[in-house]
Amino acid sequence: MRNPCRFIIRNYSVVPRLPTRLFAQCHVPQACPQRLDVGHMSTHQAGPQMLDVGRMSAYQGNPHRLVVRHMSTPAPSDEEHFFITTPIFYVNASPHLGHLYSAVTADCLHRYKLLQGFKSKFSTGTDEHGLKIQQAAESAGKDPLIFCTDVSERFKRLFVQCNISYTDYIRTSDPVHRRGVERFWTVLQDKGLIYKGSYEGWYSMQDESFLTPSQVVDALDSSGKDIKISLDSGHKVEWMKEDNYMFRLSAFRRPLLAWLRGNPGAIRPERFYQDVLQWLQEELPDLSVSRQRSRLQWGVPVPGDPQQTVYVWLDALVNYLTVAGYPDAHAQWWSSAHHVIGKDILKFHAIYWPAFLLGAGLPPPRTICVHSHWTVGGKKMSKSVGNVVDPVEKSGRFGTDGLRYFLLRQGVPDSDCDYNDGKVLKVLNAELADSLGGLLNRCTAPALNPAQRYPPFCPELFAAGSGGRATADDQRLLEAVRALPAVVGRHYEGLHAYKALEAVSSCVRLTNGFVQRHAPWKLDRGDEGDRRWLDTLLHVALECLRTYGLLLQPAVPETADRLLCRLGVGPGERSWRALSFLPRARGMACPFEGRALGADCGVLFSRLEPLDTDDRKPKRTLKHA
Ligand code: MSP
Repeated sequence: MRNPCRFIIRNYSVVPRLPTRLFAQCHVPQACPQRLDVGHMSTHQAGPQMLDVGRMSAYQGNPHRLVVRHMSTPAPSDEEHFFITTPIFYVNASPHLGHLYSAVTADCLHRYKLLQGFKSKFSTGTDEHGLKIQQAAESAGKDPLIFCTDVSERFKRLFVQCNISYTDYIRTSDPVHRRGVERFWTVLQDKGLIYKGSYEGWYSMQDESFLTPSQVVDALDSSGKDIKISLDSGHKVEWMKEDNYMFRLSAFRRPLLAWLRGNPGAIRPERFYQDVLQWLQEELPDLSVSRQRSRLQWGVPVPGDPQQTVYVWLDALVNYLTVAGYPDAHAQWWSSAHHVIGKDILKFHAIYWPAFLLGAGLPPPRTICVHSHWTVGGKKMSKSVGNVVDPVEKSGRFGTDGLRYFLLRQGVPDSDCDYNDGKVLKVLNAELADSLGGLLNRCTAPALNPAQRYPPFCPELFAAGSGGRATADDQRLLEAVRALPAVVGRHYEGLHAYKALEAVSSCVRLTNGFVQRHAPWKLDRGDEGDRRWLDTLLHVALECLRTYGLLLQPAVPETADRLLCRLGVGPGERSWRALSFLPRARGMACPFEGRALGADCGVLFSRLEPLDTDDRKPKRTLKHA
């Protein structure tokens, strides 16, 4: 059982209410965002409580101490699975910063779940079929599979470079995926949900999307010619008229509304949930789910009708099921599926996909976590505007963790964020190099810590009141760091990494203030009292740093690892359950006290030079010591 923090409740009285069970009349000292576990009982509330503490026999040997575990999140049982996905990426162009953002967001949640003890599966991959890719391969004069393999490998390399710790990398050209698509199609068809029909209307090849007349507007292309474009994406649309297969999407408006009303957290943040509810106020037209083979050869042929190719979005969405094991055993993973997506593909994930799943007799995903877009100079990144940010170049320049930190720290799911190099430098220098790196450096420097050990903590010196040297501000620091794991966990869980990192950063600032306030370098090591106080100050600061290192692991794994190695925190001491901050202040043993620090491997995060205003590039690239 994970117990990042435990309260010991004293002064309670045991009340035998039932013949075999004990109840405790007690006072819970502080409210918990998630829950408190007392024996078999859980509570969120502070204050007087009557808690069922379980079987009488379990407490007979220890009637005077009631230990309450403060859970930062619900504890997973051994069987608990978590399945997180990114969208699969189109291979018509190289990866850009927006793609990396989807991947880093999902990676952060996956790492957090692993630290909590979940069995977490994390899938990503490439979306390789469809007209857009077929034409891109043709223009490159390459066989489509060779073309796709080349770009898919570029995504893989980016993900390796950026520490995206996926467990599954799926390509829609994989034979195993094709088997999944064929089965899924057959199930829908057998249920009478697919019929032969014809489609006439607007189609955007860039978005691989069908549009109603109200979703299309007039525009001029670069040569001044009249064209029609999608209102939403701005991509050119064309009139299409074709015999193909249709899916009875119209039958799913009410089931979708029922699903969403019964699961208000299914689409996050709330504004996107409201958007989908709004879309569902209108009738849904049936959806074309195939293209004539004569137009589109690069895709999965419709089972039983090789003259038609499965619509690329149906094909692509099934990737999530394929990774879960479909068409073989898949329920265990599928029942815990969470999708991370950008706002531009909400309709496909929140309307088409759940409708297909409900049609096939499968549950919709648990949550659809939507993020907004990265813009440059206020404009959406696009090749034609020439403002595409290359994540390979940026992670080379700012470091893998530098770029990850920036994206997670500045990316806000609700609204678009503008990228520029100057902002990256400012954030990284202030928070990673100066604040966090400076704190570690100060507290582990041989000048202050010549023994290079985790020094002992003296509870009497830190106590408030007589004999103690700690101030009210110091006690506030302790309270803030004690509460931090629950705060950070809640924000990681809600895909608000920026709030989690903001909370850590604010505690790092408080800790620097603590060190500054007490100026341990001014203490007299020849004086017994001063020496013990110096040790105590360093112990507290190192405990703070250990907590920050543990909490930062999902966001900046390399930096967190370097920090924890320097503190001598072993690989088996880094899980969420190891988040027991300053146990010595609560009368418990600290496994680190007296332990040798790890080797000094230089600065935690090197400062970056300010921008050169001429070329608006940093003068030197980041190098890790
Ligand atoms: N292939 C489809 C997804 C199929 S999933 C079954 C697709 N691919 S994509 O390559 O165009 O986009 C992949 C992801 O990158 C989407 O989540 C999209 O929102 C995200 N981004 C693309 N441009 C973006 C920004 N400028 N900023 C942030 N993310 C954006 O759609």
